[in-house]
Amino acid sequence: MRKKIAAGNWKMNLDYGQAKSLLQELIQLKDQFNPETEIIICPSAPYLAVFAELLNDHKWLKLGAQNCFHENEGAFTGEISPLQLKSLELEYCIVGHSERRDRFNEDYDFLSKKTRALLAHGINPIFCCGEQLQVRDSNVYKEFVMKQIEDSLFKLRPEELAKVVIAYEPIWAIGTGKTASCEQAQEIHSLIRARISKDFGDKVANEISIIYGGSCKAENAKELFAQKDIDGGLIGGASLNANGFCEISNSF
Ligand code: PGA
Repeated sequence: MRKKIAAGNWKMNLDYGQAKSLLQELIQLKDQFNPETEIIICPSAPYLAVFAELLNDHKWLKLGAQNCFHENEGAFTGEISPLQLKSLELEYCIVGHSERRDRFNEDYDFLSKKTRALLAHGINPIFCCGEQLQVRDSNVYKEFVMKQIEDSLFKLRPEELAKVVIAYEPIWAIGTGKTASCEQAQEIHSLIRARISKDFGDKVANEISIIYGGSCKAENAKELFAQKDIDGGLIGGASLNANGFCEISNSF
């Protein structure tokens, strides 16, 4: 069954004290979160170990990393391995966020390696895809997004792909306050699901969660999450407010 997901991508925000305060606020709001929604937070890497300890008594709140490398160990200064994330018992890791594709030149092949490495350690990748404004305007956005997915994910085995969460995040909507309309988002989500169904069958297509990201907030989450193929959101800015994030997660 497709999971309903609200994932907070905190990006490179909040100092340690602020991050711990936000975590405590979320923990205190537990009874207000719908238990049927998978709630995930992805804070900055230096906070993960302490957060993992703090969340030991609050298993309803899942922890994810924002990035990782694909090797298990070795001379890769500054990188974090899936094995290290696994040792913290993390369940999720974002892969291929557009900010990493654009600013750190992460390409299809690299993202495919990371995805495989995470799956090998039982960590669910939150795989991001999405087009720039000029791609949308040039009207080849559907092909563009499909290629991102095919190139990085379509060599996985069906049971592996079913564990991936796909986040469709049109780049022109990220952090801009400009959300994709429900129709624009649903169009891509349903195409992704249909494409998966074609190569991997209906079972995988119906199991995989496809979430939307890009200026998703309490004001627009209900309409977005009501779409047939939108299984939740990857929330950036709006996840930095505990009450707002809680409201978004209750928008199904
Ligand atoms: P935003 O970011 O909600 O601030 O637009 C979403 C994301 O980049 O994951």
